[in-house]
Amino acid sequence: MPTTPALPGLTVVSHPLVQHKLSLLRDQATPKKIFKELVDEIAMLMAYEATADLALAPVEVDTPLETTTCQRVAGKKLTLVPILRAGLGMVEGILKLVPSARVGHIGLYRDHDTLEPVDYYFKVPGDAAERDFFLLDPMLATGGSAASAVSSLKRAGATRIKFLCLVAAPEGVERLRTAHPDVPIFAAALDRELNANGYILPGLGDAGDRLFGTR
Ligand code: PRP
Ligand code: URA
Repeated sequence: MPTTPALPGLTVVSHPLVQHKLSLLRDQATPKKIFKELVDEIAMLMAYEATADLALAPVEVDTPLETTTCQRVAGKKLTLVPILRAGLGMVEGILKLVPSARVGHIGLYRDHDTLEPVDYYFKVPGDAAERDFFLLDPMLATGGSAASAVSSLKRAGATRIKFLCLVAAPEGVERLRTAHPDVPIFAAALDRELNANGYILPGLGDAGDRLFGTR
């Protein structure tokens, strides 16, 4: 799948289908139902790229004709961790590709005045040190939420974490990269900048509000 190494640590998934769907997602005229379906589909396409280095292990399989050696994904089950709320929109699409994945949750919201993240929930599987984590949030703006969520995962023992978002701002990539240089970032787009209120330009607006119909 085409990818573009845009900034150190950032992979932009530049596949034509991802870019097509992202252009529909950005459109303010796109209704809530279609917005949700697009987030789901883009997340699935991005997961295809982000799972490209999953370890495989050989298994013996009896086909109707003979026994043969095949490859299956090895090790503990992948764990998806959406950052509430908007990250929830990315879970189902990835579960269609990896139905056995576990799902943890991190509750964070961005304070409107300080733009700093406020924690309210954390739950991931107990054996975090042995798992691969995909941390999910459609928007990487200042990077405060993502950096805080990665710190929480690391405190729980996680060592192998990838961050998947749809739209990233350069400021967010820089902050997450500085705080956690070991965490690869996958995005469908690297946008221009943040505005004075911490919104990504050109962006797609407030992802949580558009997914859940709140304002
Ligand atoms: C949005 C978004 C990220 C965060 C990004 O969530 O989904 O979690 O802002 O901003 P940052 O990079 O500057 O931290 P929000 O706080 O609006 O909460 P919501 O998902 O409940 O809408
Ligand atoms: N959160 C969003 O949902 N959108 C932005 O542009 C920035 C933060």
